[in-house]
Amino acid sequence: MRKKTIKDINVVGKRVLVRVDFNVPLDNGVVVDDTRIRAALGTISYLRQAGSKVILISHLGRPKDGPDDALRMDPVAARLADLLGIDVMKLDDCVGPEVEARLAELPAGGVALLENSRFHPEEKKNDPEFAAGLARLADIFVNDAFGTAHRAHASTAGVAAHLPAVAGFLLENELLQLSHMIDKPKHPFVNILGGVKVSDKIGVVDRFLDFADAIMIGGAMCFGFLKAQGIDIGASKVEEEAVGVAAAALEKAKSSKCRILLPKDLVVADAFSAEANTQIVRVEQIPAGWMGLDIGPATSAHFVQEIQRARTIFWNGPMGAFEMEPFSSGTRAVAGAVAHAEEALTVSGGGDTVAALNRYGLADNLDHVSTGGGAAMEFLEGKELPGIAVLQDA
Ligand code: 3PG
Repeated sequence: MRKKTIKDINVVGKRVLVRVDFNVPLDNGVVVDDTRIRAALGTISYLRQAGSKVILISHLGRPKDGPDDALRMDPVAARLADLLGIDVMKLDDCVGPEVEARLAELPAGGVALLENSRFHPEEKKNDPEFAAGLARLADIFVNDAFGTAHRAHASTAGVAAHLPAVAGFLLENELLQLSHMIDKPKHPFVNILGGVKVSDKIGVVDRFLDFADAIMIGGAMCFGFLKAQGIDIGASKVEEEAVGVAAAALEKAKSSKCRILLPKDLVVADAFSAEANTQIVRVEQIPAGWMGLDIGPATSAHFVQEIQRARTIFWNGPMGAFEMEPFSSGTRAVAGAVAHAEEALTVSGGGDTVAALNRYGLADNLDHVSTGGGAAMEFLEGKELPGIAVLQDA
């Protein structure tokens, strides 16, 4: 799976189109978490120093029908300019003669940021003409958008048909770190999975059942598993198809040496609100009409104990609705335990998980915090990611 990187190709003086994942959270037009922008600085600085013209392209959010003012890249360009300490040329489109004319003015070492690639429906369709239009802007294509590498879009995959295509440092590092974790994990190897969607994570559960020692499941994800065990989960959130896939995973676990650990107790509430009435109950005792919004203290203590014994730890997904204080204890406890597991290799991924680590000031304590959510999960599942498959082999 070794791919060429920007170090394996002559970038001096070249126009380099870099696909980045600047799909960052915004609040009132301001970037509230710049982790993904910071993570791309290594590649950008390297190219600038080599005298390349750096042309960045990203999507932002999921615009429905063409341009959406709330999803323009301007706040991202402003944050990037602050971080780099230089002017960033922000363009109002990502293809076409006007864009080509403006880019002709970009000096060597300069940085331009194109408009949201998803303002063109052709992007997600991986339209060949649109991809060719993107390719006209540059001499070399660099994919540094690990978080979007599981999407076969024009700016992540299609464009590579027209230009020499290599990996950036962020992407290279993600592949190294994630492969390192699963190639020869030190045991015990434990996973903590949470968040909302069982369907996004079930592939990883299935694969990890083959070689991990324990999979702890919290967050909304646990309700599919609890329901599959015949437990009445009250008004807790559960995906339609979750129960069937959870039942299949529990069945597979019976003949695996890997244990699936589910919550024994929960913090339940009578509404999805920080002001709701709450109580701590055993999972079998969720009152009718109440919903589980966090793992309970006994479960937290159990999960923390497992984490403390582990030598390799992968965490994806919060343990509850941690953005509301009454339901944050489980996620905080897990974050603290993972961050302080000094003997273990610690890796996490997913936007909510990174947000939780940042909230508690713990992200720097982990060995690797992936910039990918869905992409990291698909990679760990063993799937080939289209944005990586198109890059030149080393
Ligand atoms: C992400 O945030 O997971 C990536 O940027 C991909 O975004 P998408 O799920 O909208 O394709």
